[in-house]
Amino acid sequence: MSDTIVIFGASGDLTSRKLIPALYNLFAKNRLANDSRVVGVSRSKFEHEQWRASLRETTEKFSSDSFTDETWEAFSQNVFYHPGDIKNPDDFVSLEKFLQSIEPEKSCGRVYYLSTMPQLYETAIAQMGKAGLADDSNGYRRVIIEKPFGTDLNTAKALNESIHHAFREDQIYRIDHYLGKETVQNIFALRFANSIFEPIWNRNFVDHIQITVAEEVVIGRRAGYYDTSGILRDMFQNHLLQLMMITAMEPPAKYDAALVRDEKVKVLHSVRTMHGSDFAKNTFRGQYDGYLQEEGVPAGSETATFAGLKLYCDNWRWKNVPFYLRSGKGMSCRTTQIVIQFKNVPHILFGEKTREPLGNRLVIQVQPAEGIQLHFETKVPDSEMKTRTSTLDFSFRHTANGGSIPDAYQRLLMDAIQGDASLFARGDEVELAWSIIDPIIAAWQSPAAPELFSYPTGLWGPTESSDWIQSQKREWFDVCPVLK
Ligand code: BG6
Repeated sequence: MSDTIVIFGASGDLTSRKLIPALYNLFAKNRLANDSRVVGVSRSKFEHEQWRASLRETTEKFSSDSFTDETWEAFSQNVFYHPGDIKNPDDFVSLEKFLQSIEPEKSCGRVYYLSTMPQLYETAIAQMGKAGLADDSNGYRRVIIEKPFGTDLNTAKALNESIHHAFREDQIYRIDHYLGKETVQNIFALRFANSIFEPIWNRNFVDHIQITVAEEVVIGRRAGYYDTSGILRDMFQNHLLQLMMITAMEPPAKYDAALVRDEKVKVLHSVRTMHGSDFAKNTFRGQYDGYLQEEGVPAGSETATFAGLKLYCDNWRWKNVPFYLRSGKGMSCRTTQIVIQFKNVPHILFGEKTREPLGNRLVIQVQPAEGIQLHFETKVPDSEMKTRTSTLDFSFRHTANGGSIPDAYQRLLMDAIQGDASLFARGDEVELAWSIIDPIIAAWQSPAAPELFSYPTGLWGPTESSDWIQSQKREWFDVCPVLK
């Protein structure tokens, strides 16, 4: 069966920077059927040829090194454009006709990618339902929905409900591009394809876990979105909780969408609810200096651009092991890393001659220096009995074929085409994630909100955040990865 990929929001940045280059790469690797079609839909008026031409340069820039004119020619002849306004029902009827006219057989499968403004998701889905675009009696019909999926629990529930009027849950693919990152999937391999880590991956051996998503960039021209969103909605409800779920989940019985997501959801169910003074103790917020001067940010805005959360999973594996989640804009470097900090040795034999051993640490570098490091103590050569920390260092990139790691969208688009939803969020998962984040947002807007610390850009967030974790006898792993 051949496939049609329909992108709503075709004139947006995501389409040209990510989606088309990812589809091109898949085509170049022979992973898309040769006659698969890509159809862009948005309000602008383009001829097919004009749209193809407008995509060429960005595809060359954002696809892999293997871009060639020849492959582009072959790929782009199956790239089409259909003008349409999401608010106009007639445009969906004409889109259906157009799709049928370019599909070689009646039984073509379709993936619809909603990359429009989020405010249009419900309308778009309803129109697709009415115009028969969701009807899968002649081939699969799947819909990919970009983030943000709602802005809180209520809006997420309403969105789930209205999507379910048109599409069944098994047709819905809620994207979180972090799940498409190779190194995030490598956490599954690390945990469930090895026997040496799993026995110690629990409260008996682990002191705490740190998940950091640091970004050097600031908000740029995104104030309109960012100021109402803030770091908790923008990064925690989705990406950080996803990383936490994969780190904390139980092994599923099979690598299968339903079972993987069941296990992830159980992690969210176990997250300890905060009450009263917990918000001040277990949450931390900051705003970078200069945020209020960014174009479009309202005067006196208290939107956080940095957050630290201390969460607990109340279950047998993790009871009382803190999960420190931290993310910020304007940090010292771009790095996403998960640190499994193991407990210290029960009795120190050598510490008095040097320092206390630091405890073993496994660092999963998600990006940009994709890899895994294991930190452990070794003897300082030619010393009496001093120890120091040494590192076993695995680089994902060096072992990748040709050294290039595919972009997350490649993997996610391919999975949606193949009908594998393991790396997409399920409806209940998204709602549960909001139910963890909503109370924190509410507490931050209440008179009892924790202080909003300011921080200069280029550091690891507010210095008070180091004091915060140090007061709990722990330290942030503030290390910028070395790109080799
Ligand atoms: C997006 C956020 O979801 O993720 C952005 O909206 C953030 O604010 C981005 O910059 C980070 O993604 P990545 O893949 O660059 O780490």
